[in-house]
Amino acid sequence: MGKANDQSIEKFLTLLGSNPSEYLSGQILAKSAGISRSAVWKQIRRLRRLGYSIESVHGLGYRLKDGTQLPVPWELKKVLRTRRLGHRILYKDVVDSTQKIAIAIAEKGTGTHGTVVIAEKQRQGRGRLRREWLSPSGGLWMSVILEPDVPTRIVTLLPFVAALSVCHAIRQCTGLDARLKWPNDVMISGKKVAGILLDISAEAEHVNYSVIGIGINANIDSTSVSARFAEDAPRITSISDQLGHDVSKLELARTVLENLEKQLSDLNDKGAHVILKEWESNADMLGRQVKVLQNGRMVCQGVARGVVDDGSLIIQDGSREVKISSGDIRVRY
Ligand code: BTN
Repeated sequence: MGKANDQSIEKFLTLLGSNPSEYLSGQILAKSAGISRSAVWKQIRRLRRLGYSIESVHGLGYRLKDGTQLPVPWELKKVLRTRRLGHRILYKDVVDSTQKIAIAIAEKGTGTHGTVVIAEKQRQGRGRLRREWLSPSGGLWMSVILEPDVPTRIVTLLPFVAALSVCHAIRQCTGLDARLKWPNDVMISGKKVAGILLDISAEAEHVNYSVIGIGINANIDSTSVSARFAEDAPRITSISDQLGHDVSKLELARTVLENLEKQLSDLNDKGAHVILKEWESNADMLGRQVKVLQNGRMVCQGVARGVVDDGSLIIQDGSREVKISSGDIRVRY
């Protein structure tokens, strides 16, 4: 949704919400907003599509009954307590991939730090290792642009920071026992509920920008997503499947972004070690038997011991310690 659109819808909402106990006729709304009667109807339809509950009574007009729980920019900005993340928010109904849009914005120039792109649905969502990421309506699909002032050796830790932020946010917003699985998965009861993707543009010693893609199966039916994957793929869940009701995506997006800003400044101020220690204490796979897969082939198995400063996973394979820097793991829960 463009800035002009956002502004006109915000103005219209202010009018509609100015006296919540009263109905406003189409005529009054049209006159006050300076638009035609059919434009009023279009705005009402758009607001309803965006999750607002608007009552309409013949002969009386319209009344705003309830706000939305979708992370639309004007609502998210009202509640977001961050310094820089989310200073610019783009919200779209359907896109190919929020990651693609965010990368295009970052490529165009500087000053994009903190820009957030959110979509209700993605047609070509991208996962790690060039996998497809199914992104039906109901999930929280967002990409955050960072122009981090961090050395290249730390930039690879951004997904750990993001996964930690998501893990905490799910717990804070729902009370569910979200846990981390290496490298960047967020799990509930051994099933994947969220994943992180990192795209970086960097030169030898300098990071131009990075885009963190965050996919959270918020209010989706996880069986519809799982059905598309091979049997040995990790099992999938969603927040609504776990809770038995929907979560507010507005609240979830807000909490993720606030946590992310805090964790990023901790990474800067306190260093990788502190972040990775926190990551470890929120993981539920350490001390367990795991298999490591690369390109679908098992390359090693053993007990997961911990993560080291570059984010690699240490596996104890008998008397041998193996350092794993990429791939997937399967955990025996
Ligand atoms: C994973 O494979 O676990 C990472 C999934 C990341 C998905 C998110 S959804 C928002 C952003 N846009 C994309 O196309 N992918 C990421």
